[in-house]
Amino acid sequence: MSVERTPEGRGIGSFACVIHPLNPKQDVARKYPFLARVLPTPLIHFLSRFWPPVYLSRVSGVRSESTGKEASGWLLACPLTAGQMLRLPPATAYRKIVQTGRLAQKLGARILGLLAFTSVIGDGGLTIARRLNMPVTTGRSLTIAVALEELTEAARWQGIRPERATVAVVGATGSIGLACSRLLAPQVGALLMVGREETRLAMAAEMVRAAGAQQVRTTTRIEAIQEADIVLSATNASRPVIQPEHLKQGAVVCDVALPPDVSPRVVEERKDVLVIEGGVMDVPGTVDFGFNFGLPPGKAYACMAETMILALEERFENYSLGKEIETERVREIAQLARVHGFKPTVLNELRELSSGSFLRRENGGR
Ligand SMILES: NC(=O)c1ccc[n+]([C@@H]2O[C@H](COP(=O)([O-])OP(=O)(O)OC[C@H]3O[C@@H](n4cnc5c(N)ncnc54)[C@H](OP(=O)(O)O)[C@@H]3O)[C@@H](O)[C@H]2O)c1
Repeated sequence: MSVERTPEGRGIGSFACVIHPLNPKQDVARKYPFLARVLPTPLIHFLSRFWPPVYLSRVSGVRSESTGKEASGWLLACPLTAGQMLRLPPATAYRKIVQTGRLAQKLGARILGLLAFTSVIGDGGLTIARRLNMPVTTGRSLTIAVALEELTEAARWQGIRPERATVAVVGATGSIGLACSRLLAPQVGALLMVGREETRLAMAAEMVRAAGAQQVRTTTRIEAIQEADIVLSATNASRPVIQPEHLKQGAVVCDVALPPDVSPRVVEERKDVLVIEGGVMDVPGTVDFGFNFGLPPGKAYACMAETMILALEERFENYSLGKEIETERVREIAQLARVHGFKPTVLNELRELSSGSFLRRENGGR
C-alpha cells in the first residue's frame, strides 16, 4: 500500500477548509478564550469585520480505507460571524473569504473547502473561485447525499415509511433544500416545501414537479410543518426557526443547517421527536484536526469531508460550485465517500441505540 506524504502537507492530497464563528461567544472562545470572556457579543460581531483571516491548525491523518493514501491540510477561519455575513454587502464578505483563500494558497493547499456561510452568501462560491487561483468546493453535493441517507434511515428507525409520509423541506428555495426536494419528491407520499417568499417557492416547486413529482405543496408558514412526519431543515437563518410547537407527534427532524435551525427547546421539550444533527461524518484514519471546531474527535461536517475526498482523489477542480447542484455530482461524491470510508455519523449512532431511546445531541459545537 503506498502512502504519499510530502513535507508540511504540500503536494498531493493537501486541502484547506475555511470555517467561521457560528456562535460568536462560544466559537471565538475556542481560539481566543480571554477575548471571548471580556468582549460583549455585539462587539465581537463588530470587530469580526476588521479581524484578519486566522490560521487555526494543521489537519493530518485522513486515510483512505481503500487506497491507504493520506490527505492532510489546514483549518483556517474567516473571522466574520454568520450574522455579519448576512448583514454585510456580499462584496465585503467575498473580500474576507478571498483573503482567507490566499492564506490557503500560501500554505500550499491544492483545494479549498468553503464551509457554512462562507458558501451560503452571494453566488455559492463562484466569485470566490474566480478570484482565487485554486479549485474551490462548497461541499454541498456530499451534504445533500448524506442528509438524504440519514433522513431515510432515521425515518425507518422511527417506524415511518417515507413513501406514505408527508415530508417537509424547510429552506426549500435554497441550494441544499431544492436539491433535496427534487431527490425526495418521487420517493415520498407528499412534499411540503417551506420558504420565505411565494414567488421563489412557486419557481422551486415548478422545478420539483418538472422532475416528475405530483404531490408537492408550498408554504411560507413554518407552522405548516405540524402535518409533516419527516422534516429536513436547511435554511440560512442565523437563529433557530423550528420550535417545539411546530412539530407533529413522533416526527423525525434532520437539521443540516449551520448554525442549526432546530431550537434547543425541541430537544428539551419534545421527547417524542427524533432530532438528528445531519451532515456529520466519521472520517477514516486517525484524523487530528489540531483544533476543536465543535464536533467530537474523528468527525467532520460533510462539506469538509467532500474537500478531503477530492484531495484523496487528487481531483483538484471546482466541484460543488454555484447555487444549483447537479444530481450526478451528488451520486458521484456519495460513491467516493463510501469507497474511501467516510460514513454518516448518525447511521452508526442509530444502530447503537436500543429501541425506545432517542438520539438527542447536546448541540456539541453548533
Ligand atoms: N452540514 C454541512 O456539512 C453543511 C454543508 C453546507 C451547508 N450547510 C448549511 O446548510 C444550510 C443551507 O445551505 P445552502 O447552501 O442551501 O444555503 P442557501 O442556498 O442560501 O439556502 C438557504 C435557504 O433558506 C431559506 N430561508 C432562510 N430563512 C428561512 C426561514 N426562516 N424559513 C424558511 N426558509 C428560510 C432562504 O430563503 P430565501 O429564498 O428567502 O432567501 C434560502 O433559500 C446553511 O445553514 C449552511 O450553513 C451545512
